[in-house]
Amino acid sequence: MYPDRVVSGMRPTGAMHLGHYHGALKNWVKMQAELPCLFFVADWHALTTHYDDPSIIESSTWDMLVDWLAAGVDPSQATLFIQSKVPEHAELTLLLGMATPLGWLERVPTYKDQIEKLAHKDLTTYGFLGYPLMQAADVLIYRASLVPVGDDQVPHIEMMREIARRFNHLYGKEKGFEEKAQDAVKKLGSKRAKLYNELRVAYQQDGKDDALEQAKAMLDDAQNLSMIDRERLFGYLEGSRKLILVEPHAKLTVASRLPGLDGQKMSKSYGNTITLREDKDSVTKKVRTMPTDPARVRRTDPGDPEKCPVWQLHQVYSDDSIREWVIKGCKSAGIGCLECKQPVIDAILKEQEPMRERAQQYLDDPSLVRAIVADGGDKARKLAQETMRDVREAMGLSYS
Ligand code: TRP
Ligand code: SF4
Repeated sequence: MYPDRVVSGMRPTGAMHLGHYHGALKNWVKMQAELPCLFFVADWHALTTHYDDPSIIESSTWDMLVDWLAAGVDPSQATLFIQSKVPEHAELTLLLGMATPLGWLERVPTYKDQIEKLAHKDLTTYGFLGYPLMQAADVLIYRASLVPVGDDQVPHIEMMREIARRFNHLYGKEKGFEEKAQDAVKKLGSKRAKLYNELRVAYQQDGKDDALEQAKAMLDDAQNLSMIDRERLFGYLEGSRKLILVEPHAKLTVASRLPGLDGQKMSKSYGNTITLREDKDSVTKKVRTMPTDPARVRRTDPGDPEKCPVWQLHQVYSDDSIREWVIKGCKSAGIGCLECKQPVIDAILKEQEPMRERAQQYLDDPSLVRAIVADGGDKARKLAQETMRDVREAMGLSYS
C-alpha cells in the first residue's frame, strides 16, 4: 500500500572509520540506488547518553556528514538530514509513548547492558529508557519498510513492529470501516472482488500467508482505486483495521566485519581504527606496525595466518590468489610479514582514494553540506507531516 522506503540513522560520533564503512555505509551506498532512502544524523539519540556533554554533537555531525558523502552516499539519490531538524520525530515519540508499556522498553536487551557498560554515567533517565521508542518513531514516521541495521539492533526493530501493530489496533478503527471496506471491494470489479474475498478468507481462516501476498500484489495492480480505498482494502485483508503505521523489517547488513588493527572489533574506544580519509603515510605506518602471529619472532620462523590479525584484513581486501600466496608464504616462512602486509596497504589506499577526492569539495566549501541537509530536511519533513496528519486524526487530535 505504501511505497517501499528505507530509513536508517547513525549517532554523530565524529570521523567515521573503515569499520563504519564496511559495516554500514557501503550498504547504504548500495541501497540508495535500489530504493528511496532516508539517512539521518541521530543527534537526539546522542543526547540520550551524552546529555551532560553536548558540546561535541554539532562538530561530530558535520564531520560525520562529510564522511557519508565521501563514502559515496549521494544526495541526489538519498535524502540526508539531521533528526532534530524534523521535530515531527519528537511529536510521534510523545504520542507513541502514551500506549507503550514500560516493560517493552525495560526488556530491550541493550537497556540493562548499556547501563552496566557505561557505569560511569547515570543512565537511569527517562530519555535513555525511551530511546528505542524514539528510534521506533524515526522509522514509523516515514512508513519505512526496511531498516538497514547491524544484528545488535534487531530487537529494536522487533519492538517497532509491535508498536506499529499496537497503534493500528488501538487507533485504526474507523467508524463504518466494514461497510466502507466492502464498498471498496466492489470498486475492484466483479472478478477481482471475488478473488479478493477468496484470498481474504484463505488468509484469515486458513492462515495462508501466500494468499495475503497474492492479494496485496493484486491491490498493487488495481489502478482505479483511490489511496484511501487501497489502504482500507489492505487493512481489511489482515483484520478490520486501517493500517496507519507500517511494520518495518530489519535489513541485516551482510557486512564483511572489518577487524581493527589488533584483531578486535574496530572501534574508537579500542584505539584500533583507520579513519575513512586517513592520511596515506599514517595508514601505511599503522598497518606496518600491526601485530602478527606472535610465533613469528624471526623472519625465518613459520607462522599461522589463523593467529594473525593481518590475515583477517586479507579476507576483506584480498582475492583468492593473494590469499593463497599468504597462506603458503606464511606457513613456510617464504614471505616476511611486511611483504605480506603490502597488498593490504595497497588495497586500503585504493579504497580510500575516491573518498578523499569526494570529500575535498565539502572541505573546501562547508556550506555545501549545510545546503544538502537543509534540502534533505525539507523533503523528510513533508513525508513526516503526511504521516502525522493521519496519526493525529486517528488519535482524535485533528480539530478540523
Ligand atoms: N540507535 C541507532 C544506533 O545507535 C541509531 C538510530 C537512531 C537508528 N534511529 C534509528 C538506526 C533509526 C536505524 C533506524 O546505532
Ligand atoms: Fe600474519 Fe602475514 Fe606475518 Fe603470516 S606472514 S604472520 S599472515 S602478517
